[in-house]
Amino acid sequence: MLPSPREQALSLLEALGVPPARLGAQGLAVHSPIDGALITHVTETSPAEASALIKQAHEAFLHWRKIPAPRRGEFVRLLGEELRLNKQTLGQLVTLEAGKILSEGLGEVQEMIDICDYAVGLSRQLFGLTIATERPDHRMMETWHPLGVCGVISAFNFPVAVWSWNAAIALVCGNAVVWKPSEKTPLTALATHAIAERAAKRFGGLPEGLLSLLIGGRELGALLVDDAHVPLVSATGSTAMGRQVGPKLAARFARAILELGGNNAAIIAPSADLDLALRGVAFAAIGTAGQRCTTLRRLIVHESIYEAFVSKLRRVYQSVAIGDPRQPDVLVGPLIDAPARAQMDKALSEARAMGAQVTGGTHVDAPHLKGCYVAPALVEMPRHDGPVLHETFAPILYVMRYQRFEDAITMQNSVGAGLSSSLFTLDMREAERFVSVEGSDCGIANINIGPSGAEIGGAFGGEKETGGGREAGSDSWKAYMRRATNTINYGTTLPLAQGVSFDITTD
Ligand code: UN1
Repeated sequence: MLPSPREQALSLLEALGVPPARLGAQGLAVHSPIDGALITHVTETSPAEASALIKQAHEAFLHWRKIPAPRRGEFVRLLGEELRLNKQTLGQLVTLEAGKILSEGLGEVQEMIDICDYAVGLSRQLFGLTIATERPDHRMMETWHPLGVCGVISAFNFPVAVWSWNAAIALVCGNAVVWKPSEKTPLTALATHAIAERAAKRFGGLPEGLLSLLIGGRELGALLVDDAHVPLVSATGSTAMGRQVGPKLAARFARAILELGGNNAAIIAPSADLDLALRGVAFAAIGTAGQRCTTLRRLIVHESIYEAFVSKLRRVYQSVAIGDPRQPDVLVGPLIDAPARAQMDKALSEARAMGAQVTGGTHVDAPHLKGCYVAPALVEMPRHDGPVLHETFAPILYVMRYQRFEDAITMQNSVGAGLSSSLFTLDMREAERFVSVEGSDCGIANINIGPSGAEIGGAFGGEKETGGGREAGSDSWKAYMRRATNTINYGTTLPLAQGVSFDITTD
C-alpha cells in the first residue's frame, strides 16, 4: 500500500529542506492530481514583495556580472551535484505534484542535471567572433555581456526542468533569475530553490536575491513582464498566454523567449519499421498523459499500411496501464485537474460529431483513483479538421490517412503551431526531404523517433504560434546575453569605413 500523496509529499518536502515557514494552513492551495486531495498551502508572494525581489535581483546581477564566467559555472556545477544527490526525492515530488509517472519524474530531474553539465562547459565557451575589418590597423570583435534579470514563467507539466534550462544558462551568462512557477506546482519550485540554496552555501554564497521565486497567480507573471528591471522573460505555456506576454514585452523592447503550444505530428511512411514506429508513437502520444508541449497529437499514416499499423496501435491503447503514477507498471497517470479532463471530453465530442472512431477516451473511475484519470484516446478522423487543428492538453491522438508524401507534409504543416514533428521512414529521400526547406516547418523535425523527449544539447523551441523562442543547448545562450560589436583602432590615422572622407582642419 502506497502512502497518501499528501503524507509522502510532506515528508519529501522535509527531506528536501523546504523551510516549514513557507507551508501552512493558509495561502495557495496545492493538490496532488493523484488523488485530487490537498497537500498543503503555500505562502504567496505579494505584488509589493515581488517588485522588491525583482529589484533585489537587479542589485544581485550588478555583482554577479563581474564574477568570471567559469567561476559562475562552478556554482552551476554544484547545483548539478546537489540535484544528483536529490534526484530521487525531487523526482518523486514531481510525480506527486504534476502526476507524471515516476520514471518521467526522475527523467525531468535528469534533464536538470544535464543542462547544468552543459552550462558548466558553456561557462568557458561564451565566445564572440573576431571579424576582418576593411580598415588598416583596426580590429573588430564581438563581446558578449550579461543581460540582467531573466524572468522565467513555467508551466505545470515540466515544473522544474524548464526553470533549469533557463536558470543554468542565464546564471553562467552572468544574469539573475526570477522564477514564477505555475500556481499548480509551487512545491517542486520551493524544493528546487532549497536545493539551489545548498549549492549556494557550498559555493560560498551568492549575491542576495540572485535567484528568486514568486509564488502565486498570473498577476505575478504580469508583474514580471511589466517590470523595467527585467530585460528578458522566458515564458512557457499556452499560445493564448504568449499572445498577452509577447506584445507587452515588445512594447517596452524587452526580449521574449516564448515556448507556447504545440500540435505535433508524426508521418508513418510505407517503408517505416512499424515496430519501432509503434514504440515511438506510443511514448510520444500517451507518455506524460499527453501533457507535454511536444506530445504527439496528429498521426498521418500512409493508406497502404494504415490498417496494419493502426490495428496494432489500437491494441496498445486498449492495454496500457492507467493509474497511480507511483506504481511501476503504470504508464498513464492522471490529468492535472478537472478542467483538463473537461477540455478532453469537449475535443472528443467535437471529433465524434465529425464522424471519428474513438478507441479509449473514457474516464477511468475506480475507488482507489480519485484524481482525473482517463484512458488515452485514439481518434480516427474522417479528415484533418475541427479539433485536430488545435492543441488540447490531454492524451488524444488524431489519426489521418495520406496517399502522397507531399500531401502528408502539407497536412503536417497546416496547423498554427510549429513546435515538433517526426517522420518514420527507411526511405532516405523522404527523410532528407522532411528535414529540408520543403519539409517540416517546425523547430524540431525528427526521423524515426517521435516528436517528444528532446535532449538538452539541441536548441529547444518552435516556430509560428509556438512563439519562436529557443532554450537549452546549441547557441540558445546568446538570447541571455547582449552582444557588443567593438572596433578598435591601433593605428595613428583615422580611416573611415565605406571610404568616407571627412577632413577637418587641425592646428
Ligand atoms: C514541455 O513540455 O514544455 O522534449 C517541454 C521534451 C522535453 C521537454 C518538454 N524534453 O518532451
